[in-house]
Amino acid sequence: MSNDGVDSGRRMLLIGATAAVGAVGAVGAAIPFVRSWSPSAKAKAAGAPVDVDFSQIQPGQRIVVKWRGRPVWLLRRTPEELASLKKVESLLRDPNSEDPQQPEYAKNEWRSIKPELLVLIGICTHLGCSPLYVPEIGKVEPSWQGGFFCPCHGSKYDLAGRVYSGMPAPKNLVVPPYSYTSPSVITIGVDKENPA
Ligand code: FES
Repeated sequence: MSNDGVDSGRRMLLIGATAAVGAVGAVGAAIPFVRSWSPSAKAKAAGAPVDVDFSQIQPGQRIVVKWRGRPVWLLRRTPEELASLKKVESLLRDPNSEDPQQPEYAKNEWRSIKPELLVLIGICTHLGCSPLYVPEIGKVEPSWQGGFFCPCHGSKYDLAGRVYSGMPAPKNLVVPPYSYTSPSVITIGVDKENPA
């Protein structure tokens, strides 16, 4: 008999540890430039929009910022990551984003205004855990093309935040309202359809 269960348990633990370290690092990296753009703490508490200069995000890197007390992910997707979106479509519950989990301008194959930059609220649609960013191909399972993995109950999302079929999570991750203030700055919380 194989010890698959034990091995996969260890694998998940390793994924969790790796991704958690990555996320903490990203938060740390994000703070210096996010802070310089953010409104006062009082304004933020009231739900003010947050400007994020994403020019320092490297291809394949995700950072985390806070908006209305929630984690918002910014991921600069590589061409390979964008190409993976088509490959997994048949495995997804709502590949065309029919559920209203995103503004109208993000209801497209990338779930974003511009293909490269993904903006998501990083809260699992099952019970609210924060999924891990696992970009490595084959890491969660042999067919894994990269995406987000929720360690709480095992929900899997692709690199556009679309949930796989048969997961505990019922819906795709939420895309918050955002707009481009300049080619390298987005404003989270301002809902307009005018990419710079
Ligand atoms: S909270 Fe994410 S799978 Fe349950």
